[in-house]
Amino acid sequence: MSRLFITGTDTGVGKTFVACALARALRARGLRVAVMKPVETGVAGEPEDALRLRAAAEDPAPLDDICPYRLRAPLAPAVAARLEGRAIDVDRLSQDILRRAATADVLLVEGAGGILVPIRDTTTYADLAAQVGLPVLIVGANRLGTINHCALTARAAVAAGLTVRGFVLSEPAAQRDESAATNAETIAALTGLRCLGVLGHDESGAPPALVDAALG
Ligand SMILES: Nc1ncnc2c1ncn2[C@@H]1O[C@H](COP(=O)(O)OP(=O)(O)O)[C@@H](O)[C@H]1O
Ligand SMILES: [Mg+2]
Repeated sequence: MSRLFITGTDTGVGKTFVACALARALRARGLRVAVMKPVETGVAGEPEDALRLRAAAEDPAPLDDICPYRLRAPLAPAVAARLEGRAIDVDRLSQDILRRAATADVLLVEGAGGILVPIRDTTTYADLAAQVGLPVLIVGANRLGTINHCALTARAAVAAGLTVRGFVLSEPAAQRDESAATNAETIAALTGLRCLGVLGHDESGAPPALVDAALG
């Protein structure tokens, strides 16, 4: 049973895009893939990330199991929950994750925003991943600034005692800036982490190194 926590350097950098590419590639290898978006915020009707993940993974689980907490405000989970007079039960989320992991060959869990985003009070996604023992994939956007953001995320993950499997850079924008050609190699040299792929704009296939790392 393999598990992976997909975190990112920010919101909108490609976590869901990369997780879906990975889920499809794992399915293509004939594996059962379970997905989770433990908390989705900014949900007006349907939880978009959870639905995308579910479709890519062909995960038959009920939406409540894939996305136990859906919150209206487009804010960090701890803040969005507080606005609704709720508090997220982190221990329950840990149990939900472990239960889901037992139902498939691979479990992919997508965070919200970055690794130090609070889920409840001072408990962050790093704490949740550590509690469950989830290795981490860092997704960054392949644009100027990403070296620093990826290195900071890697340091925060290591400080929390997490294993980082590597990083992937995605290209949410069609326009590339000058840094895009050298970001991946620079981050790898700076952090010692493996680059598991660079997903160009509209490139929806998962690099084999990413699939192998997810199974590792
Ligand atoms: N490599 C890519 N090619 C095309 N569109 C992308 C790529 N990476 C991300 N996007 C798009 O950019 C937006 C933000 O990506 P998303 O995966 O939702 O980010 P996150 O999950 O980190 O918030 C989405 O509309 C997504 O489809
Ligand atoms: Mg997302």
